[in-house]
Amino acid sequence: MGYRETYQQWKEDPEAFWLEQATSIDWVEAPKKALFPRGENLFEWYADAKVNGCYNAVDRHVENGRADQIAIIHDSPVTASQTKITYAELQDRVSRLAGALVAQGVEKGDRVIIYMPMVPEALDAMLACARIGAVHSVVFGGFAANELAVRIDDCTPKAILAASCGLEPGRVVQYKPLLDGAIEMADHKPEVCIILQREQHNCDLIPGRDLDWQAAQEGVAPANCVPVEGNHPAYILYTSGTTGAPKGVVRHTAGHLVALNWTMKNIYQCDPGDVFWAASDVGWVVGHSYICYAPLIHGNTTIVFEGKPIGTPDAGTFWRIIEEHKVRSFFTAPTAIRAVKREDPKGEFLKKYDLSCLRALYLAGERADPDTIHWAQDMLDKPVFDHWWQTETGWTIAGNPAGLEALPVKVGSPTVAMPGYDIEILDEAGQPQKPGELGAIAIKLPLPPGTLPTLWHAEDRFKKSYLTTFPGYYETGDAGMMDEDGYLYIMARTDDVINVAGHRLSTGAMEEVLAGHPDVAECAVIGVSDALKGQSPVGFVCLSKGVNRAHEEIAKECVQRVRDQIGPVAAFKQAVVVDRLPKTRSGKILRATMVKIADSQDFKMPATIDDPAILDEIKVALQGIGYAKG
Ligand code: COA
Ligand code: AMP
Repeated sequence: MGYRETYQQWKEDPEAFWLEQATSIDWVEAPKKALFPRGENLFEWYADAKVNGCYNAVDRHVENGRADQIAIIHDSPVTASQTKITYAELQDRVSRLAGALVAQGVEKGDRVIIYMPMVPEALDAMLACARIGAVHSVVFGGFAANELAVRIDDCTPKAILAASCGLEPGRVVQYKPLLDGAIEMADHKPEVCIILQREQHNCDLIPGRDLDWQAAQEGVAPANCVPVEGNHPAYILYTSGTTGAPKGVVRHTAGHLVALNWTMKNIYQCDPGDVFWAASDVGWVVGHSYICYAPLIHGNTTIVFEGKPIGTPDAGTFWRIIEEHKVRSFFTAPTAIRAVKREDPKGEFLKKYDLSCLRALYLAGERADPDTIHWAQDMLDKPVFDHWWQTETGWTIAGNPAGLEALPVKVGSPTVAMPGYDIEILDEAGQPQKPGELGAIAIKLPLPPGTLPTLWHAEDRFKKSYLTTFPGYYETGDAGMMDEDGYLYIMARTDDVINVAGHRLSTGAMEEVLAGHPDVAECAVIGVSDALKGQSPVGFVCLSKGVNRAHEEIAKECVQRVRDQIGPVAAFKQAVVVDRLPKTRSGKILRATMVKIADSQDFKMPATIDDPAILDEIKVALQGIGYAKG
């Protein structure tokens, strides 16, 4: 069946469609019903089922003839090492780690934070939680102690699993001081921390609280899979919203198993046994869905890559890994390809490798600019598929369903709605727009299985953030349009979220940090265009009356503050001191206009602007740091 027929089949009877897809999962008690409306536009999937996520990702493959197949390849150019783990070995590792958690009193429903670099133990940790019904929350290693503390207080973990260090090119990132600092800052205290000591750095353990990863597993009984309800949370993943407080996206177990399994063949063209690679990080949604869960649920081999697209050691790393491990489908962020293209515009590195095993390149996480797509198409001579999704959805909203039927690529569009998603472009009044007209991108409720049912302990925020603006719809926070053929175009965010190197960040959160500087009276952070990273944050600060310290010094302190409080991943490198910020007469800061000035784009003078002269001052300030030159 092709795409249109499949989409139509879903639309005619969504419940039958999703019950049919559910037959690919091994249930303890199979679902009798797919959708469970909970009132007020809240929905859950497969709530009557009983299942275990780890069983579906690991044990069933051991039982069904894949025991000796490689489940995980750890390819780590930064440590010059490679490890291959079979499904049987994975079962052993995960059940022992799960046993260690049980021995520490972790039970079904308890939360466990995972703060780890790209090592296979990070996947062991996620799967060990799934095995015993504990709810994991992975925190990206590039976040600072303060961000970790915020997450500790929000999800109140009984245990934290962490490593002694991560490895960034040229530096060892010591995790333990960040972890200790976060626990110190947080009101909630975990009962136990289980620490993986890496040979690159051995950290001190706090007696009575910290346990060594291996020692914690000694003498404990391996844990069996605990059946959980279909609507039991598999994990919480925090993502940036408009304010400094991150949103705890909840993922229910059953829907995520069914939906992810469906995508592996229909979107990523993988058959069980194929090698699939998503070059992302377990701290992001791409890492949850496509480094850990989906490939394992589907019986593929997944690659845990600890390195960068360039510099570890060169711009040929991606291609070396694809050749060496016979990768069928490769998924990364456009930024990573831009970085490779910048270093190797003529593809000299690429030519050294035999990429005949590769079917296609998949891009997501940020807008894929046409230059990057064309370059990758030309160099690889393979299809390049952009696809659009979010932490909230956990899998593709719009993509090219190449495993069902490869649709013609229109560069600039992530292609069409996947079954499960009824996408509409709405104007401010919530009225559907015509093809080609811009508007807010909304999805008719209910969302499909695998998407967020709520935010962790924040149902009101969930409703306010996603369900209120357009009643009956989920508001994506993205704006764009759809053409006559149903191809979607994603143009911009409608909120204060920016995307830096494929990482979703909140300008609001950065503003909160700058506002905390003792000399800062007022501030604004905007995302300006960046040729490599897509966007890059720039801060503007107005000083309190009477402050007469050197502006450069204050700007430097602001940069350091964001690095210390949010983390290096914010990539906040530029702050400027200005006298005033441009505002409307009602006092709203005109951030969108500031972005246009920075990017040297034409803009309409906002009718409500209080004092247009301030825009000239902003332009001069931006020119001082290399923007607004056009
Ligand atoms: N732990 C600690 N620090 C981290 C980190 C981690 N896991 N990941 C990134 N950082 C640090 C970097 O070292 C850098 O620090 P610096 O300011 O001291 O240089 C900072 O955070 C910013 O990182 P980044 O924005 O990634 O820039 P970069 O210059 O290090 O690398 C790219 C540029 C393009 C190579 C890199 O951004 C990349 O690989 N992007 C692809 C992103 C991706 O896969 N996203 C996942 C979504 S699908
Ligand atoms: P995240 O939750 O980190 O995955 O970020 C999701 C956001 O990234 C989306 O809401 C979009 O703004 C942006 N995004 C993700 N994929 C794409 C894409 N293919 N094209 C354009 N924007 C994208």
